[in-house]
Amino acid sequence: MVMKRFCREKNGLMDRIGECLAHMKEKTDFKPEIALILGTGLGRLADRIKPERIFAYNELPHFPQSTVQSHKGQLVLGEIAGKKVAAMEGRFHYYEGYSLEEVTFAVRVLRELGTRKLVVSNAAGGLNLEYRKGEIVLITDHINFMGVNPLIGPNEEKLGPRFPDMCEPYSRRLIDLALKSAQEVQIPVRQGVYIGVAGPCLETRAEYRMMRHWGADLVGMSTVPEVIVAVHMGMEVLGVSVVTDLCDPDHLAPCDIQEIIKTANEAGPKLDKLIAATIQKF
Ligand code: HPA
Repeated sequence: MVMKRFCREKNGLMDRIGECLAHMKEKTDFKPEIALILGTGLGRLADRIKPERIFAYNELPHFPQSTVQSHKGQLVLGEIAGKKVAAMEGRFHYYEGYSLEEVTFAVRVLRELGTRKLVVSNAAGGLNLEYRKGEIVLITDHINFMGVNPLIGPNEEKLGPRFPDMCEPYSRRLIDLALKSAQEVQIPVRQGVYIGVAGPCLETRAEYRMMRHWGADLVGMSTVPEVIVAVHMGMEVLGVSVVTDLCDPDHLAPCDIQEIIKTANEAGPKLDKLIAATIQKF
């Protein structure tokens, strides 16, 4: 019974994407090249975009509504650093109760709108003990520890293959461009592996220890589903984290979401500068 309902929902995916696209195309013929998803506390880059058209999420057919504080809930189409972009100010999380199809719906729509690259930012916990709060980390790879996958269910061949390859979900070419840009704008960056969890609890000390042993440098509650769907649709991905709290199991302090948002906000201008400098080279 559950599976039947699930299949029906999946079967309607192309229609839902089509309806959302049709609405956007009715309002603008702007064609973005790059999709941006701006993470918790990192949405201010959108203020620097010369807007062509802004869509509130509640205006877009089948778009979920963002319930998270510090997320604005709009899609900004416009120009930044000489590039045409579509920037999501606010994203959707699995812990909010959305299905991963809903969490990743916007990525599908933006790919169908013509974007071929995705830049995704997030606030993440630092598992790597060399990291400091506020540091920027270029994501080199991920571990999907969410317990789900957005591609489960019937595959829509028009969107991508049944078994997408995952040997380089984060484009080495884009990471190298980001490293070069970071040097030019003199912003120190690190590289690391991101582990995606469902949330909404923060992790236990035992979980942090386990994740470090597994080879993760960062932990967060987003990004992995969007990147899987972007790869499914053949997009080139750049992922960037801001370390907002330190996950040292031997010196763990209670984590405060306001503190996380504050740290992300403080690092925001640095990250904006790096992203702008990097996409200029795309
Ligand atoms: N764990 C999970 N998600 C997070 C964290 C964390 O420590 N910090 C920011 N997002």
